[in-house]
Amino acid sequence: MPARDNMCFVIAIDGPAAAGKGTVAKTVSNHFGFAYLDTGLLYRAVAAKTLLGEDPVKAAERLDLETLNNSNLRSAEVANAASKVAGIPEVRAALFHFQKRFAQRPGGAVLDGRDIGTAICPDADLKLFVTAASEVRAKRRFEELRENGAFIDYEKVLTDLKARDARDMSRQDAPLVAANDAKIIDTSDLTIEQSNERAVKLTQMALDDLYQ
Ligand code: CDP
Repeated sequence: MPARDNMCFVIAIDGPAAAGKGTVAKTVSNHFGFAYLDTGLLYRAVAAKTLLGEDPVKAAERLDLETLNNSNLRSAEVANAASKVAGIPEVRAALFHFQKRFAQRPGGAVLDGRDIGTAICPDADLKLFVTAASEVRAKRRFEELRENGAFIDYEKVLTDLKARDARDMSRQDAPLVAANDAKIIDTSDLTIEQSNERAVKLTQMALDDLYQ
């Protein structure tokens, strides 16, 4: 079903690192014509500025959306720094309104991150929690980084990913946790197509519930 111009339909997709949130989110947004925001990029952009010596809170307050297109944001170094700046409450507060406004776009919106279903859009029409075993996620991230030309070994990717998940789950402010009403998609034994299919089906069911 194509998105209706005046509808406000929000899909919140959360989950740990490299679980496949982005792939599922892009597929759902393309399929239904919803706007898509990868909120991890906001934290990555702040982290990239911090690595260049900027104060994290100031970097978050002045975040220029052009920076979200920088190709270096997907590096392992930036990912690790992102989960550190993401633990600073003032950084999260500075990024809150942009995400909230994005979610209110007419025509529907998909946001993926760590706290979308719990803190940014607790009233989302559909919440998905996309997860997978850490070894599977590390293998996927390792292959992605290698394809992008990074010299990195699998063990280091696995250690970094576990450390990042632990930091994301244990922080005080908006920790990574599945919302009580989230539908879990465990992609450990699913192909990309199967994960996408599941998410599209759940979205269609949520739309049918709302509009029929
Ligand atoms: O792509 P991947 O799942 O590895 O990471 P990401 O979604 O780009 O997020 C990078 C980091 O930003 C995470 O490890 C979190 O610490 C932080 N983040 C967050 O705290 N809240 C969000 N809504 C999104 C990301």
